[in-house]
Amino acid sequence: MALHIDLKLTLLLIMAVSASLPAPQNVKMIAMDMNYMLHWDWNYTQLENPVTFTTDYVYWNVQDNESSYKRACEGSSECWCDFTPSGLYFSGSFLLRVRAEAGLQHSNWTTKRFTPDEDVLLMSPSSVSVKADRDVLTLTISKTVMSDVMKDLKYRVQYWERLKPEQKHVADYDSTHAPLSSLKSWTEYCVQVSVFSLEYSKSSNYTSPQCVSTTGQPLVWLIILLVLCSIPLLGAFLYKCHKFRRKFSVFTAPESIHAFPPGPLLLEVQEEYCTVALVITPAIQPTHTLEEEQEQEHDPELQAPEFTDNWSAGSVQDSGFGPGLES
Ligand SMILES: *[C@@H]1O[C@H](CO)[C@@H](O)[C@H](O)[C@H]1NC(C)=O
Ligand SMILES: *[C@@H]1O[C@H](CO)[C@@H](O)[C@H](O)[C@H]1NC(C)=O
Repeated sequence: MALHIDLKLTLLLIMAVSASLPAPQNVKMIAMDMNYMLHWDWNYTQLENPVTFTTDYVYWNVQDNESSYKRACEGSSECWCDFTPSGLYFSGSFLLRVRAEAGLQHSNWTTKRFTPDEDVLLMSPSSVSVKADRDVLTLTISKTVMSDVMKDLKYRVQYWERLKPEQKHVADYDSTHAPLSSLKSWTEYCVQVSVFSLEYSKSSNYTSPQCVSTTGQPLVWLIILLVLCSIPLLGAFLYKCHKFRRKFSVFTAPESIHAFPPGPLLLEVQEEYCTVALVITPAIQPTHTLEEEQEQEHDPELQAPEFTDNWSAGSVQDSGFGPGLES
């Protein structure tokens, strides 16, 4: 308990004498196009009050006049401050400063000079659309906000045939409409775009490559080409067909079939067979006179030879076709 009070007293004493908090370090401005973000490091130490940061800016040439400073961020515990809403003049030069605060304590200021037109990095275009034609690729590049402040800003298109990446070409354009002409038809090209300013000696990274194929000659040429190509193929096909047919006629029509006499097919044979059978049945009845029945009782086999003959005639005819069809 005594120790605790002692510590508090010591802290109060130190506070009264000087700023006791460590100052932010590694202050850096990341300026991309019109976005200005100040970042810093600060080692956390055990404190009773949470740490917040205050950030100011002033024109470089009036930094000695304390009343000229304007506030950018206050009371934030984040280790960054967005200077974009401050609207720093692009061609001006500024002193930025940041300090840590906790309760009644505060650190020393850490300062950073910032000159937008020198320090800013150009962002590559956010989008590039490519329209392919026969021998032209037309690029439509998204406009960069920097064209408002850098009057000489240009767009550089790097392009190459996809299969020849070692042969890169470059074309510069003043506007976001960038046609690449005199290209080969039916060829895949890759394009990437950067923005640059000679006046400010700045250029952005290239966008990631986009590959698009040019189209070809008008359709009629394509059709003629297809027809020309298909003639040898068609010839080969017809030749194959002819050969196949010859082979077919030799092997699927054996002599036995050719030699076979023109006659009824199996179905007709069966029909004939049935007809014979039907004819036979009524043919029996007229012979069924009473005497004959009586005779049959005595000699039932009397009619049998006639029957057998009729049947056998049918079966002979049938068996005659049998082997020929089965083979
Ligand atoms: C923060 O603390 C670490 C280790 O405690 C030290 O190595 C580093 O240098 C410190 N950084 C700053 C900015 O004080
Ligand atoms: C450009 O590309 C490099 C390497 O990839 C990267 O480190 C850098 O941040 C990029 N610059 C911008 C402005 O995006």
